[in-house]
Amino acid sequence: LPEGSKQMIEAHELLRKFYHHLLVNTKEGQDALEYLLNRGFTEESIDRFQIGYALPSWDFAVKLLEKRGFPPGVMAKAGLVIQRENDGTYFDRFRNRIMFPILDHQGNTIAFSGRAMGNEEPKYLNSPETQIFNKSKILYNFHLARGSIRKQQQAVLFEGFADVISANRAGVENGVATMGTSLTEEHISLLKRNVQAVTICYDSDKAGIEAAFRASNMLSKAGFAVRVATMPDGMDPDDFIKVHGEEKFRNDIIGSSSTLMAFKLLYYRRGKNLQNEGDRLQYIEEVLKEISTLDKAVEKDLYLRQLANEFSLSLDALIQQLNQLEQASAP
Ligand code: CTP
Ligand code: MN
Ligand code: MN
Ligand code: MN
Ligand code: MN
Repeated sequence: LPEGSKQMIEAHELLRKFYHHLLVNTKEGQDALEYLLNRGFTEESIDRFQIGYALPSWDFAVKLLEKRGFPPGVMAKAGLVIQRENDGTYFDRFRNRIMFPILDHQGNTIAFSGRAMGNEEPKYLNSPETQIFNKSKILYNFHLARGSIRKQQQAVLFEGFADVISANRAGVENGVATMGTSLTEEHISLLKRNVQAVTICYDSDKAGIEAAFRASNMLSKAGFAVRVATMPDGMDPDDFIKVHGEEKFRNDIIGSSSTLMAFKLLYYRRGKNLQNEGDRLQYIEEVLKEISTLDKAVEKDLYLRQLANEFSLSLDALIQQLNQLEQASAP
């Protein structure tokens, strides 16, 4: 462990407990608690995920950490406080925010993300990258989810905190999140050491669908069995659970996720009008390219026939064009 790491973790643990206490037991935390309860968080999930509240103070953490003997220079390196340029004094990074502690895979608190309660920017203020926090290696909630991921031989991949937490409340305990960043090779090898099958459940907005497309390709290339769960247009998993309930989420979203190819067909359809000839030809070509990447002959045959049926094309013509594509891309 690099020098100072132990102290940095201890400071995060201390603040996590204080923030949680402020949220659940104090008058100062009342509005924040109400905000969370209104969003559908429960006392149980607030406890399980150790959610907290940072006061609207410039020096709450500065003073607490100082009193407990943590050197401010180390705390600044840990991203908890920030040094002022003019006089060298320190102030709190997180002020008046709902605090989501981020744990490493051993269960140490190594970072925070603080959500604004109104429309302030940024919506989520994160700890910076530090010697104990590397966002491209950490999956949110992996520590709690690992057991369930192994037992179910399945992981569910979300974008954000609220999605993981609401899904957990809905009984989906094998959920983890990339926290808005794109999935990295490091995330993938972490998953690979624990599971063979991943269901992607990103937001069903444009950004989420694009990210799901990229992640599905990366995971499938890495040898995972991939499924993709989508929600009605524009919704994220947390929204869906709030509007339609836990059971519908389990059955109609996670339980009815699409195979990789079915998701890709949906993906290529988006923004196209298949009544339009140009769009239709482009769609057919994109799907053929996708089919050419399949290595099972039976799968190829299945999707070619589907395509032929849907657009009343001859199977021969499709096979001919598929062969051309495969020759063009042959090494
Ligand atoms: N995120 C972030 N910084 C931001 C916005 C988002 O780090 N300024 C991360 C957070 O981990 C967030 C995830 O990206 O949970 C997904 O972003 P988004 O879908 O925009 O937020 P939600 O999780 O839906 O947040 P909420 O439901 O609280 O509005
Ligand atoms: Mn508690
Ligand atoms: Mn999103
Ligand atoms: Mn979202
Ligand atoms: Mn959301």
